Amino acid sequence: MNAHAAPPYLRLGVNIDHVATIRNARGGKFPDPIRAAQMAVEAGADGITAHLREDRRHISDEDIDRLAAGVGGKPLNLEMAATEEMLAIALRHKPHAVCLVPERREERTTEGGLDAAGGHNHLAPFVRQLQAAKIRVSLFIEALPVQFQAAKSLGANVVEIHTGAYCEAHAHEDFAARDRILERIKKGATEAARLGLEVHAGHGLTFDTVKPIAAISQIVELNIGHFLVGEAIFIGLDVSIRRMRQLMDQGRSEVRPA
Ligand code: PXP
Repeated sequence: MNAHAAPPYLRLGVNIDHVATIRNARGGKFPDPIRAAQMAVEAGADGITAHLREDRRHISDEDIDRLAAGVGGKPLNLEMAATEEMLAIALRHKPHAVCLVPERREERTTEGGLDAAGGHNHLAPFVRQLQAAKIRVSLFIEALPVQFQAAKSLGANVVEIHTGAYCEAHAHEDFAARDRILERIKKGATEAARLGLEVHAGHGLTFDTVKPIAAISQIVELNIGHFLVGEAIFIGLDVSIRRMRQLMDQGRSEVRPA
């Protein structure tokens, strides 16, 4: 980056999975995650993210059918495990991007990053086939040098850095750990960008934790869901997304020229 250049625009991808969680609690059609996606776009989202899990606990196949057509002209980022079933769905819909994530049935959420290094041989054909269909491929990984190297050697377009541990440490008021993890994320973002990977980040981000992540100039996209949907109960989805956008912009404006 030029010493005085402004950092690149930071996109906000809104993850609508947990609108579907609430809908599925009663098994009907309400609340409709696609309506939430439309609202998110009106509130300033640059894209919509949805995770089709193997057990369909929130987003359904029908949701993906409806989202794939695009919402308000904004791209769909489909999060999925590297399985043959999910690959077939992605190839049928050809979303703008696929983010490959680890998935274990017993976990409550995506608890850690993908082991791109250990899983290289398993992941390689997925990356290749998705890219052959002109889908951008992102790998959801921890900010560890070995994982960035693996993402590079797999030919991924993007890495999404897992911010879950950083947010957890903040929530538990372990600020020393939080700051240590933040440093690792900063170093990781620099390293990933140096390798030519586009850098995204997400998981667990809240109004309280987003600014230091937004201030990392190599990161060009954040994917945020659970907190925004939870906060919508209190202040509405539109307001929660606009507030998040504002805090991202504030964090970004604190980036010092290199
Ligand atoms: N990024 C990835 C790759 C994810 O798997 C998730 C959770 O589905 C998110 C971002 C969003 O996390 P949260 O819902 O905690 O904001």
